[in-house]
Amino acid sequence: MSEQTIRQRADERSIFAVMTQLARQHGAINLSQGFPDFDPPSELMTLVFLAMQQGKNQYAPMPGVEELLHALARKYRLLYGADLRAQDEITITAGATQALFTAILAVVERGDEVIVFEPAYDSYIPAIRRAGGTPVPYAMTPPDYRIDWDAVEKHISPRTKLMILNTPHNPTGTILTDEDIAALQYIAQRYDLVFLWDEVYEHIIFDGKVHHSALRYPELYAKSLVVYSFGKTYHNTGWKTGYVIAPPALTAQYRYVHQYNVFSVHTPVQHAYAQYLQHSKWYESLPDFYQKKRDLFVQLLKQTPFRVIPCHGTYFQLVDYSDITSMSDIEFARILTTQYGVACIPVSVFYSDRRDHKVVRFCFAKREETLRRAAEKLQKIPSK
Ligand SMILES: Cc1ncc(COP(=O)(O)O)c(C=O)c1O
Repeated sequence: MSEQTIRQRADERSIFAVMTQLARQHGAINLSQGFPDFDPPSELMTLVFLAMQQGKNQYAPMPGVEELLHALARKYRLLYGADLRAQDEITITAGATQALFTAILAVVERGDEVIVFEPAYDSYIPAIRRAGGTPVPYAMTPPDYRIDWDAVEKHISPRTKLMILNTPHNPTGTILTDEDIAALQYIAQRYDLVFLWDEVYEHIIFDGKVHHSALRYPELYAKSLVVYSFGKTYHNTGWKTGYVIAPPALTAQYRYVHQYNVFSVHTPVQHAYAQYLQHSKWYESLPDFYQKKRDLFVQLLKQTPFRVIPCHGTYFQLVDYSDITSMSDIEFARILTTQYGVACIPVSVFYSDRRDHKVVRFCFAKREETLRRAAEKLQKIPSK
């Protein structure tokens, strides 16, 4: 596949599918797409099987299995002090991507503007366009990818309907801070807009940092839809299950689309999570579990010419390769996959203007052995 073909295909279908195919073709270690190469908790898998055997195999209620809605309301009371009415504020979804797409369709109408922070997860902009809206990108730039909120405010117009936030942030590994939340509180007070929060990495946060969930801030939550993914928390991205939490009026608006788009989600899996959440606080182990992987990967990268960009959350590590070559990030990702045997994602594809900062993204949600094998290959790359 040439650089040109990758570029073209990435415009037609997701870059993750393109790079995963290239990795397969060349037998490369796939650190491109964000999925673990280890299993979910075995008890959770057993609970799915048991639910099937116990006859939980027909349609679930549209919002989700009642026990699961209550289990989630309990979880978020404990975690973020949120006071949620399970039946009216939580909807189980077929993963976060579906929740995001449905939420955007539910809120955005023709002519509306949506503020998107780039580099951005690749599903946001196609969904906005499909809804007839106009994406208004705000570019965050390396090395720290911080947000200048005065500049953001200049992006707000009378047509702004929605702002999409993602913390911890894929691909940059940044997290929103107290100052960011204060700026958002000001914006929420001043402007009539809705916030869509992508919090799929809520539990993958490092160095003792706090996840600033929208659920912690009642005045922000009042204008928010907040999206989560079980797949990221329980190492089972292929189960495609998540949920969206929003105040009753926004939930009703969301469900109006959801009921015809999805109707309801995999019943046995919902029962399994409901049971599992009764006694397990699995998610408490995640920061430590992934921090060890991040630290190992960063340590291994020290013996390569890559410059590591600090990662505070998510299971992605950005690296600057400008000490290796000045070629485009798409071409570099292609060569890394085909000649060195490690697949990554070029970060330019997460910007709508395709700006190229010579940065690529690796996923470190992999077994230690996979990370070591990948690093051995990366260590063979010469610097300029
Ligand atoms: C920021 C972000 N949002 C949403 C998703 C999608 O989650 P799901 O697999 O539950 O659809 C991902 C997956 O990589 C992601 O990184």
